[in-house]
Amino acid sequence: MLILTDHPLIKHKLTKIRRSDTCTKDFREALGEIAGLMAYEISRDIPLKEVVINTPLEKCTTYEVAEDVVLVPILRAGLGMVNGITNLIPTAKIGHVGMYRDHDTLEPQNYYAKLPPGLPNAVIMVLDPMLATGGSASATITQLKKCGAKTIKLVAIVGAPEGVKKIENDHPDVDIYLSALDRKLNEIGYILPGLGDAGDRIFGTL
Ligand code: PRP
Ligand code: URA
Repeated sequence: MLILTDHPLIKHKLTKIRRSDTCTKDFREALGEIAGLMAYEISRDIPLKEVVINTPLEKCTTYEVAEDVVLVPILRAGLGMVNGITNLIPTAKIGHVGMYRDHDTLEPQNYYAKLPPGLPNAVIMVLDPMLATGGSASATITQLKKCGAKTIKLVAIVGAPEGVKKIENDHPDVDIYLSALDRKLNEIGYILPGLGDAGDRIFGTL
């Protein structure tokens, strides 16, 4: 299922990160803020556990987030989304998967993986600002499933119809969260209108 998180504040901040003259600092800040705003929507069905506490007046049964949320940023650009989400879900564990796109084939190349234990029982959020061909996200999800992951949400900021279609084909069980569904990919796999190379803009490597 595709879920568009197009809150007015997200739309406002999206404009900032799409502008070609937004500097690295402002880009990074706005991207993190968008991830934080998206976290409300993506955590809507986060598991809770009952806890019994003492208020100043009496005992009370109430709820806390169960500690089985795992964020998996796809390196590099997914790192830019982590802080915005851990601000709201501070107990989340963080795994890292390194993927880059081969410039000629656009095929994802895996170069790193370090994942926490307990994936089979966790709610896993795969983070990457850009869903272009969908190759990087699909390969990451396949890798997580090989480690036993069952509940996976893909959280991207800007997506292309081509990428959405690939994830829906390869992983029909995975919900896709986007802040914007753009028009299409260009001939070298960039999203139009998009925002350029997210990793380069976050880390100032343009
Ligand atoms: C970008 C982006 C995604 C991928 C999306 O990463 O952050 O991971 O491309 O493209 P896809 O959907 O066609 O796979 P990139 O390869 O530029 O690596 P980087 O984050 O290290 O810059
Ligand atoms: N990766 C990016 O960073 N931007 C795009 O437009 C496509 C893939």
